[in-house]
Amino acid sequence: MMQTKAENIVWHAAKVTRQQRTEIFGTAPCVVWLTGLSGCGKSTIAVKLEQQLLAHGHPAYVLDGDNLRHGLNRDLSFSAADRSENIRRVGEVAKLLSDAGFIAIVSLISPYKKDRGTARQLLGPEEFIEVFVDAPLEICRQRDPKGLYKKADAAIAAGKPMMMTGVDAPYEPPEAPELHLATDRQSVEQCVQQILDYLWQHRRLLPPKKDQ
Ligand code: ADX
Repeated sequence: MMQTKAENIVWHAAKVTRQQRTEIFGTAPCVVWLTGLSGCGKSTIAVKLEQQLLAHGHPAYVLDGDNLRHGLNRDLSFSAADRSENIRRVGEVAKLLSDAGFIAIVSLISPYKKDRGTARQLLGPEEFIEVFVDAPLEICRQRDPKGLYKKADAAIAAGKPMMMTGVDAPYEPPEAPELHLATDRQSVEQCVQQILDYLWQHRRLLPPKKDQ
């Protein structure tokens, strides 16, 4: 991990503890990390999950790769090194959100095992929930919602690399994700429900407080 450049910096502790935030929100914060190919359904699942959690009063927020590349990560390309930096930054933002008491829903291709491993280490095994959003490459190519696979094929045919994941850049599937969703066989609703069930079973969503 990169060393901190600045010297003479100290840590200021908050007055509100993590436990207090958990009790106030009725939510034990964590990070739901969706990884998978472009077009596998990550963003669709992420926004539906966010909507459902908020509808039940649980603070949740989506960190979407495409969106973040318009601002925070606008200086990053799709090289392996820049994808690593992308995942590092988003991991740090997710950590801030979870410190604030939120369920952070990360939607990033995050193709390299090593980078996802670094994020897991940063967030801790209790709080990092890796969700493999799995659809065969052929299905993602058929869906091609942004026309990127077509673009990549054309670029490669013209002798120009595009570093498109699954085409001329790798995707390393997780070996032991907490959850494995097959979006070619399960509906979006079923996938979202599977995540909600997991959160409930692992006590990330606390039972509602009885009326005082
Ligand atoms: S990651 O690999 O660094 O995790 P990230 O999730 O932020 O990727 O961004 C992926 C999004 O960028 C895709 O959903 C797609 O819309 C767009 N994109 C544009 N070019 C590429 C490319 N060469 N490879 C993958 N995604 C690309």
